[in-house]
Amino acid sequence: MSVVFKSLSRTRKKLMLVRYAQIAAGPAPITEPKIKTFQIYRWDPDTSGDKPHMQTYKIDLNTCGPMVLDALINIKNEIDPTLTFRRSCREGICGSCAMNINGGNTLACLNKIDTNISKVTKIYPLPHMYVVKDLVPDMSNFYAQYKSIEPYLKKKDESKQGKQQYLQTIEDRQKLDGLYECILCACCSTSCPSYWWNGDKYLGPAVLMQAYRWMIDSRDDFIEERLSRLQDPFSLYRCHTIMNCTKTCPKGLNPGKAVAEIKKMMAVYRENRSLS
Ligand code: SF4
Ligand code: SF4
Ligand code: FES
Repeated sequence: MSVVFKSLSRTRKKLMLVRYAQIAAGPAPITEPKIKTFQIYRWDPDTSGDKPHMQTYKIDLNTCGPMVLDALINIKNEIDPTLTFRRSCREGICGSCAMNINGGNTLACLNKIDTNISKVTKIYPLPHMYVVKDLVPDMSNFYAQYKSIEPYLKKKDESKQGKQQYLQTIEDRQKLDGLYECILCACCSTSCPSYWWNGDKYLGPAVLMQAYRWMIDSRDDFIEERLSRLQDPFSLYRCHTIMNCTKTCPKGLNPGKAVAEIKKMMAVYRENRSLS
């Protein structure tokens, strides 16, 4: 027997050992099913006549991971493969699983399932966005707005580009903390009433926070140009400091403060311009 065992592959040996341990432990205890109800927004543009509606799914929490994303994956794998949503990293890094869960914008992979089975969990796509299908919002406008702020280091003298590092002090680097961590999930922008009504012209808190991130980078030479681009009545000034954005950010960042900081910088910039 031991000669046979020795000749097996490592994986096969592991599997056999796990099975022996299971047999030794006896039958698994019977657990009461914990059936949780999820209502999920569905809409398929490819099915003619389909209208947006809520679909109910029931899953046993004993057979599911702890997060709402686990529930969605469970439903897709075990019940309904047509359910469509975005996800990638499942650890709050990629930003792709942003959606509205029980009335708040958040990341499905960081949001724990409410284990109270008498309560229904309702899931919608991010609010006030065009929907591609089911829980997938159309992010084109959001990404175009991000591109418009030129989210990268810009130098007046580009002759040293690629030839040297642009250093900054530890203090200057620390100014970027709380800004660079943004994963562009758009939870904040899509919770902002001003962005709901003027999303085509108002840049929204996520993109403005990134504009601010480059304005205060000690290595960037284009602060005035970056400010000047936000002077119109919509790009920046539709923010009315309602602070939904900061309340909802699943990464604990403060985009509302960044918007307020740009407004302060803009006041100084405008005063300097009127004096010169
Ligand atoms: S603080 Fe400004 S950006 Fe944030 S939710 Fe309110 S209006 Fe929108
Ligand atoms: S500030 Fe927060 S909520 Fe807004 S895009 Fe960045 S990570 Fe998402
Ligand atoms: S799957 Fe990447 S943030 Fe949720």
